[in-house]
Amino acid sequence: MTSFLRPLAYRYRWIYDTVTAVSSLSVGGVERLRALGLEALQPRLEPRAEVLDLCCGSGEAAAPWLEAGFKVAGLDVSPLALSLAAQRHPAMERVEGLAEDPPLPDASFAAIQLSVALHEFPREERAQVLQQCLRLLKPGGWLVVVDLHPAGAWLRLPQQLFCALFETDTATAMLEDDLPAQLEQLGFTAVNQELLAGQALQRITASRPPSSEQP
Ligand SMILES: C[S@@+](CC[C@H](N)C(=O)[O-])C[C@H]1O[C@@H](n2cnc3c(N)ncnc32)[C@H](O)[C@@H]1O
Repeated sequence: MTSFLRPLAYRYRWIYDTVTAVSSLSVGGVERLRALGLEALQPRLEPRAEVLDLCCGSGEAAAPWLEAGFKVAGLDVSPLALSLAAQRHPAMERVEGLAEDPPLPDASFAAIQLSVALHEFPREERAQVLQQCLRLLKPGGWLVVVDLHPAGAWLRLPQQLFCALFETDTATAMLEDDLPAQLEQLGFTAVNQELLAGQALQRITASRPPSSEQP
């Protein structure tokens, strides 16, 4: 179930951008929110490595990676979002497709970012998306997930309001689940979770094991 505001926010960019700006205040603003993936992984990657921004939308969270010199591909199911990405971030290679079944070859990325996107998927599809991340990562490559986490006392009410107005049941389901445990279960290693923004956000890094350690 979701409110009438969600389709409007996806249709009118100014609503989406305003909601993102307001909801990112707790993490230090929209630029910080969009740089959280890069911040976590840049020290672990070779310069100019291949990075996939999975569910890239209009490419706003891919932009810091492009500015840092990485070779970035962005995949999204929405042609509208991808055409905006072409205008705003033309250096990002654009791929139209499903995150559950990306039309991309095995082991082709040193890093994959899922920026505030995983909560869009029902549980079964979420597992498929994460399995695809394992397939697409090179052995030893890194995944970074930035997404909702159950907020602490101060932000619990605003988070519940935000989810009721702009999210679907998939977000509520993800808030009930233990994402680090799920990543370990799927075969990721070196799983590390950080809680940010009064616990309302989680940033998880996880690695595809080197070939010899494949499950
Ligand atoms: C909340 S937006 C996040 C966009 C971007 N990652 C960011 O940080 O600004 C979620 C995105 O996921 C995309 N999406 C939803 N379901 C998808 C699917 N099954 N496959 C690929 N993209 C999907 C939507 O089109 C939307 O652009």
